[in-house]
Amino acid sequence: MSNVIILGAQWGDEGKGKVVDLYAEAADLVVRFAGGPNAGHTLVVGDQTIIVRLIPSGILRARTRCVMAQGMVVDPGVLVSEIAALEARGHTIDGRLFVSDRAHLILPYHPLIDGLREGAAGEGAKIGTTKRGIGPCYEDKAARRGVRVGDLRDMARVRTLVDRALAAWSPVIRDLGGEVPEADRILADLAPLAARLLPLIADTSVIVEGSLKAGQKVLLEGAQGTLLDIDHGTYPFVTSSSAVAGGACAGAGIGPTRIRRVVGLTKAYCTRVGEGPFPTELTDAVGERIRAVGQEFGSVTRRPRRTGWIDLPALRYAARVNGLDGIALTKLDVLTGLDHVSACVAYDTPAGRTRDLPIVALATARPVYQSFAGWSEDLAAARAIADLPAAARAYVRFLEEQIEVPIDIVSVGARRDETLLLRDAFA
Ligand code: GDP
Ligand code: IMO
Ligand code: MG
Repeated sequence: MSNVIILGAQWGDEGKGKVVDLYAEAADLVVRFAGGPNAGHTLVVGDQTIIVRLIPSGILRARTRCVMAQGMVVDPGVLVSEIAALEARGHTIDGRLFVSDRAHLILPYHPLIDGLREGAAGEGAKIGTTKRGIGPCYEDKAARRGVRVGDLRDMARVRTLVDRALAAWSPVIRDLGGEVPEADRILADLAPLAARLLPLIADTSVIVEGSLKAGQKVLLEGAQGTLLDIDHGTYPFVTSSSAVAGGACAGAGIGPTRIRRVVGLTKAYCTRVGEGPFPTELTDAVGERIRAVGQEFGSVTRRPRRTGWIDLPALRYAARVNGLDGIALTKLDVLTGLDHVSACVAYDTPAGRTRDLPIVALATARPVYQSFAGWSEDLAAARAIADLPAAARAYVRFLEEQIEVPIDIVSVGARRDETLLLRDAFA
């Protein structure tokens, strides 16, 4: 059985797109199990950069099939334009991409409500969402009034469901000063999108299980990150879905007995987009330098990402809640040129010093740092640990020891080949 989960161990944007695209060379199937177009996964191939928001990062590998599973929320307009952009570059979609009949649809009132709420929220209440309608869509799912991808097969049923949802949301929209969208218009805009998506709709759980039974290699691609998870993240400053390894099984429609390995991604430092606690944040020139060198601007919203030192208690926490077997360490090259590099190793809290992440009291916890000598050598050509300068090697080994999970991959650039592959994902 060769079924590997790849997920973010921080606040997202760890480089999941790059690592999934890399591993997808050997994969038969890549499955996105959660989130929606709040994600932005960057794939760099040669001199081309492609950002996928909904479609799994395996799509550039011609022999790899891709599944958007039932844990996802799908904006049909975004999906159809993403498909068109990939087709324009020569990638085949039909017969390779399958969308779960039970994934929920993001409809125009969802981003509308998301945006209105963010605009109306006072200081401290704003989440800093991507305004893509993620929260309201998952709310409809939990309230059992959602519209699912499979409903597109029967537009009369979609009409009934949209009417029901609009009845529930209209007072909220009006209260926020918005204009309630018309169901007729929603349905008219949806019809051509539905026509494009119909051939892709499937019971994807059957596809995933079939692939596993046939002994194929399956990658489950996470979106967002552990600290944005609805249950395990820095609530309420989180997304609305399950981003952890347990969520991968529910979201993909397979049992936990099918998972062979869980790989967590972390940058060699840390970033966060949106509001919420970030104890190791750097608001000085070093933070700015990391943002500039690491190109830390949101791939969906272009917002500047907040930057800071790596948080080892948070990574030990991610190792625990996901049962991590391996770490993919990305963007080590971004730290090149700093005179020193720091890592948060513990927290001081009113109850004393702890190596654990004080997840419910992060806003008041004070990070305790250990500092390391920096390095100035360019890392882009490194392909083995021995190729790294001694200071970078010492930093990587320290991270591995502290997280207590072996490092499978070190990434030293955005391109596929700028990678130290220390362990075969499917071995
Ligand atoms: P994701 O959401 O986890 O897929 O990550 P994003 O694509 O949003 O952000 C990661 C960014 O870092 C992208 O622009 C990648 O091309 C880039 N990237 C990934 N790995 C590396 C690396 O090792 N070094 C550098 N410099 N950039 C990287
Ligand atoms: P990928 O998959 C980084 C953040 C938003 C906000 C919070 C809630 O590219 O790593 P939402 O729109 O989901 O309701 O916003 O979650 N967020 C992300 N941050 N990377 C992502 O995805 C994110 N998806 C959501 O910035 O703080
Ligand atoms: Mg991203």
